[in-house]
Order: sequence, then structure tokens, then C-alpha cells
Amino acid sequence: MINPTLAGMATYPFVRLEEARRRLLADGVEVIDFGKGDPNEPTDPMIRQALVDALPERSPYPLAQGLPELREAAAGWCARRFGVEVDPGAEIVPTYGSKEAIFSLAQVLDTAGRTIVFGEPAYPVYERGALFAGAEVRTLPLVRENGFLPDLDAIPDDTALVWVNYPHNPTGAVAPLAFYERLAELAAERDFYVASDEAYTELWFDEAPPSALQVGDRSRVIVFQTLSKRSSMTGYRSGFVAASPEVVGALKAYRPTVGTAPQEFVQRASVAAWNDERHVDETRARYRAKRDVLIPAIRAKGWEIVASEATMYLWVAGADADELLERGILVSPGAFFGPSGAGYVRFALVPTLEECERAADLL
Ligand SMILES: Cc1ncc(COP(=O)(O)O)c(C=O)c1O
Repeated sequence: MINPTLAGMATYPFVRLEEARRRLLADGVEVIDFGKGDPNEPTDPMIRQALVDALPERSPYPLAQGLPELREAAAGWCARRFGVEVDPGAEIVPTYGSKEAIFSLAQVLDTAGRTIVFGEPAYPVYERGALFAGAEVRTLPLVRENGFLPDLDAIPDDTALVWVNYPHNPTGAVAPLAFYERLAELAAERDFYVASDEAYTELWFDEAPPSALQVGDRSRVIVFQTLSKRSSMTGYRSGFVAASPEVVGALKAYRPTVGTAPQEFVQRASVAAWNDERHVDETRARYRAKRDVLIPAIRAKGWEIVASEATMYLWVAGADADELLERGILVSPGAFFGPSGAGYVRFALVPTLEECERAADLL
């Protein structure tokens, strides 16, 4: 028998997009793929070289706690980027990208039979992690009128964990520090944890967004960072969790069972990545150039670009994904990410600049 939670799960939406792309390619239609958020950007040569230099004759099982150098690089980055002191020994644990750690958090905390809350539209992993852990799910609509922020007064009483994700996939909305402050206060008052998925904090275009780590009392805050988007390293699988010694201690106890520490040569390449900002500036400049090409073309169609202040996404009201697909432009229908996404499509700015120019012409 298959686990009924797995059997009852709809196909992961991006599998459906991939099927649509393959069908079109088989029909000879050239497809420009703005679907899945997997950067096509090159990983900086300096980072690749660090990986090559670290490749040993024999690579042993990596320890769940990670290399001290990596934890120190992550803590140093938190201090430079957000002005917060995080203890690399007690408050940081490396993760295999962030998806697996996001998925399993509900098993690490006491959530079974209690409520896990997140806004929708959303990255699908918060829900899946909650369901596999036997928790109840409560979604809060993220709508334009509220700046795509959840109504914190709607958090139910028996809540164990609240997920937030800013800059937000799929809308590109950014949360102000005051939002995190209010959420952390509520978490202390009502005894729940706040999990802040910060995969996109480094892909910004006007002002660097804040982190939930910056709140006054971060004892109930658990932050998930990753090199996937910041350093275009999705395939390396490298991120970290920053949280209280209690939560990090629980993660260090849980994670050896699952075996999800990044390979040590990946950890050493990650040290090089966290210690460098030049390549991140260059990455932002490449995304900015793509935005500059696509935003006017989308607006010229009479469609509206909503939120989209940060991330690699444009959240577009009024466009139709099926119609775009007929022209060879693959985007994600907003409803993939939850019912409040209906009426929108998401462009992931992953094609090359030349492809973005071609897509602008097609539009
Ligand atoms: C909102 C959000 N969180 C987390 C992730 C996970 O990224 P990774 O596991 O590569 O760190 C993604 C990836 O697309 C994402 O969109």
C-alpha cells in the first residue's frame, strides 16, 4: 500500500508544465520557457573552481552539523547583509538546498494534529510537509489589497507554525521589517514558530529586502536561506537554517537520520559563494536587464505587472497562459500556486536575455 497522503496528492504542478513543453517540442514548436524557477545563469567560475579544488580522493559521509568554515561563512554573511550576530556553533545548520529542510520542518517541531498556516498562492512544499507530518493546514489568501501579506489576525488558536516567504514566490512582493516584528510578537504571545523562507532575499532591484532574523526577539523565528537563486547554484544543493539553539539542536538530532548534509566539496564551494558579493551584483544586473526587456512588452499588451518588486518572477494580471503557450511562450498559470493566484500568470525570468528579447517580439 502506498502512503495515502502521497496517493492523494495532485501531480506536482511543474511536472504538468514539463509535459506541456515536451508536447510542443514534439510538434516542432520552439518554446521559450518562463515556467519553472530554475536559473539558467552560469555559476560563477570562482565558485566552480572552489568545488574542483575541494574534490578529494575519497569523500566521506558529511556530518549533519556541516563544516565549521561553512557555518562561519553563513554567520558572517548574516552579519554583513542583515546586521545580525548569529552563533555559527549553535544557531546555524547547513541544509541540502532548502526544499528538503522546508519539507521536514513539520516533523522536527511538535505539529501533529495542530495547525500549520501559510499564505496562498504559495510554493507547494509548506503544504506537503504539513500533510506528511499529520498536521492540519490553514491557508490565508494573499491578495493585492493587502500587498500580498497575510492577515495575521486570522491565525487560528491551535497554530504550531506559520510559514512566510518574502520576497514572495510567485508574486514578487516584499514584506517590511514591521511585518516580521508583528509576527514574532504574536508568535511569542501565542506560542507558535515562524518559519521564514528567504530563498529570494538577494534578487532585488530597488532596495535590499529585510530578513526575519532582524526582529528584536528572534527566539521563535526559523530562517531558511539558500545559494540556489542568490548564486545560481540550484544543482549544488546548498543552504542553511538559522534559528535558536533549541531548534538548531533539534535539526542536528533529526538530520543524520535523513542524511541530507551537502557533500563537503559542495560545502567548500558554498563558503566561496557566501563570502563573495560581486557575482551576486552581476546576477542581479542580468535579471534587471531581462526585466527591462519584458516589462514594457507585457505592459504594451495591456496586461498589468503587479507586485514583482523582487525575485526572478513577474506576476502578471490579465494574461492567459494557454494563449501564451500557443505562441511558444511557456508561463505558469497563477492558479498553480493556489486559488488566490487565479487571474494571474507567473513569468520566471530564467530564459537568456536573447530569448527574453525574442519573447518580447512575439508578444
Ligand atoms: C519559495 C521557495 N522556497 C524554497 C525553494 C527551494 O529552493 P532550494 O531547495 O533550491 O534551496 C524554492 C525553489 O524554487 C522556492 O521558490
